[in-house]
Amino acid sequence: MDKLPLDLLGAIDELRRSRNAVILAHYYQEPDIQDVADFIGDSLQLAKAAQSTNADVILFCGVHFMAETAKILNPDRIVLIPDMAAGCSLADACPAPMLQRMKDQHPGAKVVSYINCSAEVKAISDVICTSSNAERVVRSFPPEQELIFAPDRNLGAYIVKQTGRPMHLWQGTCIVHETFSERKLIELVSKHPGVHVIAHPECEPNILAHAHFIGSTSALLNYVRDTTAPGFVVATEPGILHQMQKVAPGKVLYPLPGMDENCACNECPFMRLNTLEKMYLALRDLSPRLEMDEGLRLRALAPLQRMMALG
Ligand code: 13P
Ligand code: SF4
Repeated sequence: MDKLPLDLLGAIDELRRSRNAVILAHYYQEPDIQDVADFIGDSLQLAKAAQSTNADVILFCGVHFMAETAKILNPDRIVLIPDMAAGCSLADACPAPMLQRMKDQHPGAKVVSYINCSAEVKAISDVICTSSNAERVVRSFPPEQELIFAPDRNLGAYIVKQTGRPMHLWQGTCIVHETFSERKLIELVSKHPGVHVIAHPECEPNILAHAHFIGSTSALLNYVRDTTAPGFVVATEPGILHQMQKVAPGKVLYPLPGMDENCACNECPFMRLNTLEKMYLALRDLSPRLEMDEGLRLRALAPLQRMMALG
């Protein structure tokens, strides 16, 4: 292991300035990473921040598909990720050749892909969506248009319910959001009467059925800020609690545990691979760096731009 500076935060700050770098962080990152970032957001906000930056270097504290999206939008900038192994179970659940087979089975269908997917999957999709705009993206197609939704079956089923239109759903799941315990949720609600249950749409339907509010990470954050309730049971990755506590200091938050009480399975193991130490090394060495074949990048860019154009 390389020798690290004693003042890690100061060293990161110095490198950020000398490299003309911007640090973007997802809400699921550790609090110390969120606190050092220039911008914190959900996956749509981070994609927009990556699109509008003037920095020479983007250090993306999130998972691989997020940094890859930043690279698709910024071919001429250096895009770094603290740990290249920070993947995503949803992206892994949907290899492009298998999605191509599903497309071949439904030749008239358009493909809406959740941004939690590889560049190869984006490249064979018609449009991308995130959890904040999935409903709007699906509604942008005429009702008679046959649709495939990949890779998250829970977000897909939720959008089918919201819009009333059937879609062919890829059967991927998030290993974090599928772990939440309904029994624990019921215990928390009966112990703290009046609490509001808030959930990310990647949760399983039995968890979503209890929710007072369902939304993306930023929508959940705004709900806690703007709603009066005796407390909030939070059914998403607990990294978001750091910003919830900041925007709503007096409010009581109950992170929903997973089914196995002896493990921190409600924490995303991929997001948590990133550390301040790895951020420092990435800025120092300009590595690990996202690189992409230009043909693939251009094919993946078109459906992303369609999403951006929808607002
Ligand atoms: P958001 O778009 O709500 O930030 O979700 C990203 C994600 O990976 C949730 O697991
Ligand atoms: Fe992927 Fe789930 Fe982690 Fe989000 S929380 S990055 S969907 S594995």
